[in-house]
Amino acid sequence: MKVTLVAGARPNFMKIAPIIHEIKKVQKQGKKISFRLVHTGQHYDEKLSHSFFKQLNIPEPDVNLEVGSGSHAEQTANIMTRFEKELIENRPDIVLVVGDVNSTMACSISAKKLNIDVAHVEGGIRSRDMEMPEEINRLVTDSIADYFFTTSELANKNLRKEGHGNHKLFLVGNTMIDTLKANMNRLKKPALFDENNLKPKKYLVVTLHRPSNVDDAENLKMLLNTLEETSKDYKIVFPVHPRTQKNLKKIKLSDKFIITDPLGYLEFVYLVKNSFAVITDSGGIQEETTVMKIPCVTLRKNTERPETVTEGTNILAGIDPYKFRPHFQKLFSGKWKKGGVPKFWDGKTSPRIVKQLLKIYNKK
Ligand code: UD1
Repeated sequence: MKVTLVAGARPNFMKIAPIIHEIKKVQKQGKKISFRLVHTGQHYDEKLSHSFFKQLNIPEPDVNLEVGSGSHAEQTANIMTRFEKELIENRPDIVLVVGDVNSTMACSISAKKLNIDVAHVEGGIRSRDMEMPEEINRLVTDSIADYFFTTSELANKNLRKEGHGNHKLFLVGNTMIDTLKANMNRLKKPALFDENNLKPKKYLVVTLHRPSNVDDAENLKMLLNTLEETSKDYKIVFPVHPRTQKNLKKIKLSDKFIITDPLGYLEFVYLVKNSFAVITDSGGIQEETTVMKIPCVTLRKNTERPETVTEGTNILAGIDPYKFRPHFQKLFSGKWKKGGVPKFWDGKTSPRIVKQLLKIYNKK
């Protein structure tokens, strides 16, 4: 069978890497499966893209569509047009997309319009927040995908409600956690750690890139001020996403803050694993902190990953900086929940996916 794997933006790379490694493994065992890796070029910076390929041993993509940045419609349209051409030239049995970025949705549409099967890894999760571009990407992708490799029973339930039969749903766990577990012994201490005399469990990690938190400079300032005021003598490490850069430049921060460019995967996970807690608006980091049992305060109104709240170490603090204070105070009081790990977030998700793909396509 022929699979086309799609990766476009930073959070895709850790989700696709273990699937590629598993396909290569079963190829060596003589299984008939080949793949083409397509990078859409949605993220193109060394720090958001290439460094992840290197660190996670992802092979060079067979093709890079080089779409780059643009408005949502421009980016989506460019990916669709270029991916359609790729599919016509190299028609696979199935296109496998991961996550919820514009590349995920755009490539699913191009594939289905050519009557090619689509499998969505991480299908079925819902924030119910239509202001998030990712929610639209998830809904559109899932409305046309043929198979779903899901991270939770709730995702399966959502998909059943939307009319998908059980035969299309496979609860397999979380490929992002495959990557996390596979790299636990390869983590790298970032240079900033010793440069700033950081001590384990004595600093926070902050990541922010959602429009609701970063697109308004006043709002971002208030958020960071509240954090600064409540965070006792903990230092605050803040790797800054390109989107956040613009407004952050307008804000004067105290020397508690250690501002840095986006970090490599191995450096970032090292930093999180040794931190006291994480403040974030990312999706994937809610999952990684739950597995590493690091307290996580998510600055969002909702989450498509509710099991990180009900089972894990995550809480939702909303997006109103006036209301953050009690959450931060609770964090620094040291009385945080312990948290458990959701079912199948065990580092063995990719073998489940590849086994299932072989089963489906050997029958056809
Ligand atoms: C995208 C994803 C988001 C994911 C995030 C992780 C969508 C809708 N959003 O958001 O789900 O959590 O990636 O990073 O797909 N830029 C660079 N270098 C790059 C890429 C982008 O500087 O390599 C800058 C550009 O100015 C661009 C801005 O970052 O306009 C935003 O990039 P974009 O890919 O549109 O969305 P993200 O905010 O990164």
